[in-house]
Amino acid sequence: EKGGYPHFMLKEIFEQPHSLSDCMRGRVNVDKDNITLAGFIDNREKFLNAKRIIITACGTSWHAAQIGMYAIEEYARIPVEVEYSSEFRYRKPVIHKNDIVIAISQSGETADTLAAVELAKQHGAFIFGICNVVGSSIPRNTHSGCYTHVGPEIGVASTKAFTAQVTVLTMLAILIGKENGTISHDEYLKLIRELSLIPDKVSEVLKKNDQIAELAKTFTYASNCIYLGRGYNFPIALEGALKLKEISYIHAEGYPAAEMKHGPIALISNEMPVIAIATQSETYGKVLSNIQEIKARKGRIISIVTEGDNIIKNLSSHSIEVPATMPCLAPLLSVIPLQLLAYHIAVVKGCDVDQPRNLAKSVTVE
Ligand code: M6R
Repeated sequence: EKGGYPHFMLKEIFEQPHSLSDCMRGRVNVDKDNITLAGFIDNREKFLNAKRIIITACGTSWHAAQIGMYAIEEYARIPVEVEYSSEFRYRKPVIHKNDIVIAISQSGETADTLAAVELAKQHGAFIFGICNVVGSSIPRNTHSGCYTHVGPEIGVASTKAFTAQVTVLTMLAILIGKENGTISHDEYLKLIRELSLIPDKVSEVLKKNDQIAELAKTFTYASNCIYLGRGYNFPIALEGALKLKEISYIHAEGYPAAEMKHGPIALISNEMPVIAIATQSETYGKVLSNIQEIKARKGRIISIVTEGDNIIKNLSSHSIEVPATMPCLAPLLSVIPLQLLAYHIAVVKGCDVDQPRNLAKSVTVE
């Protein structure tokens, strides 16, 4: 059932070109030049009239929510707030009737997220679920939603569910933006075309697997790592760090690259790998100078860069190239090397990749 792979996690990482195609099937239509989501169409007025969107989730799903916030604010111009379900449910949040609350959960059973859904419902908000497990508790308790359709995810570390959550949120952002007139027709077509190319580009990134497995061998000495990114790649820094923590038991932190100088740069030494997610974007030059600051303090830099980038590559002790895409879609490519890196480091260290200690696939207790 692992399909010839040694672990479910590796199988699920490699499934991503396919699972993302499944997630987009019938939704991203290049031939018809449109994006369609049943959960949106049925509730079009609610989305177009929403004054605010609140996204609630835990763990990796919360990282997807962060990317969703960037995309919805950029393309649909609706204010978005992202909440940890466990905080949201207890902190007496202000929830209005015309708020849309999006709950993201792979399992659809996370206790805190389910409770956050119930709370938002009591306040009369419209609840939209983004879940993977069909018929699970969260989709049963929401008003509408959208399944990620990536099939069962068995590995405790979430991989293919994450990229599909990001894809659904991106489709939703584009669709709202198109319908409320924020996105021009040309931009809409460009986004559709670029989204449809993502599965093939993910396949390209997966070809770096052997390179990443080699790189992983040099990590066994590390007891701390820092992940840095800006913009759409900031949540990927958080996600890369979480993957490493949960399966290889190496302490890791993700930061927005510019936050380094507000404290964490004091930690830099040649003992601590710094993973910089530095693909092309408006803030590329800023990330470059953040990397130079780390280099000047003898930090060891491993970078994720866009194909053909020699500038950051030359500053790095190791670089992994990913194909070019639009900044809002970059997370779908830049997270893949980080999933593989966490996987291979855990394997080199002899950790139980699919069943890491102290963790459960569904957190059904709070
Ligand atoms: O099933 P959910 O998406 O609600 O689960 C949320 C988290 O428990 C989950 O993403 C967790 O952080 C993963 N183990 C991360 O890989």
